[in-house]
Amino acid sequence: MATAQIYPSMLAADFGRIAEAAHAVEGRADWLHVDVMDYHFVPNLAFSPDTVTALRATTPTPLDCHLMIADPDRWAADYAERGAANVTIHAEAVDDLPRTTASIRAAGARTGLAVKPNTPVERYLDDLHRFDLLLLMTIEPGFGGQTFMTEVLPKIAAARRLLDDRGLDLWLQIDGGVNERTIEAAAAAGVDVFVAGTAVFGASDPGEAVEKLRAQALR
Ligand code: DX5
Ligand code: ZN
Repeated sequence: MATAQIYPSMLAADFGRIAEAAHAVEGRADWLHVDVMDYHFVPNLAFSPDTVTALRATTPTPLDCHLMIADPDRWAADYAERGAANVTIHAEAVDDLPRTTASIRAAGARTGLAVKPNTPVERYLDDLHRFDLLLLMTIEPGFGGQTFMTEVLPKIAAARRLLDDRGLDLWLQIDGGVNERTIEAAAAAGVDVFVAGTAVFGASDPGEAVEKLRAQALR
């Protein structure tokens, strides 16, 4: 049965007031989503390990780090050591999946597997048991404010069935274009965890926006 966790994406926050943004959703957001980009895996640059350390010290809300970087094998464990509660790596970028997931877990974090819209989940069937979360991108990764790709909905529903049929206890997360208009269909397809950037931090009251999104997802 799907729940509805809402993770505001800090990429959509005002970078001059990052702590204020974190506080604005405290007690409303389940976790905070922190995008990490390296100009290689995606054509954008975002949050460093030091930013994760700073956010960790700023808010009690757990941090969900989404690594859109070319060499997650090398850097993933550092984000766990900095206090991320979950570290998600991209399937398209990881070389040694067993070793990297083990290093994240050894550092005390949960771990997630992300796939871009055109990457099939089936390719990683034998490795899913190593993860706590499966992230299906609903945009091409790299930038906030893009349009939700409705064509990913059948993939979401299929992944939900796959996890249930195999008794795999992973949270099913989506990221990209989640807002009050798109969240219902995604919830119906079986998503547990919704990342939302623009829809939360573009709102006049981010905390209230989180509650509204959750209510829409649970309808
Ligand atoms: C983009 C990031 C997303 C982004 C989502 O690659 O992974 O987390 O912040 O932004 P919205 O919700 O605006 O689509
Ligand atoms: Zn993200």
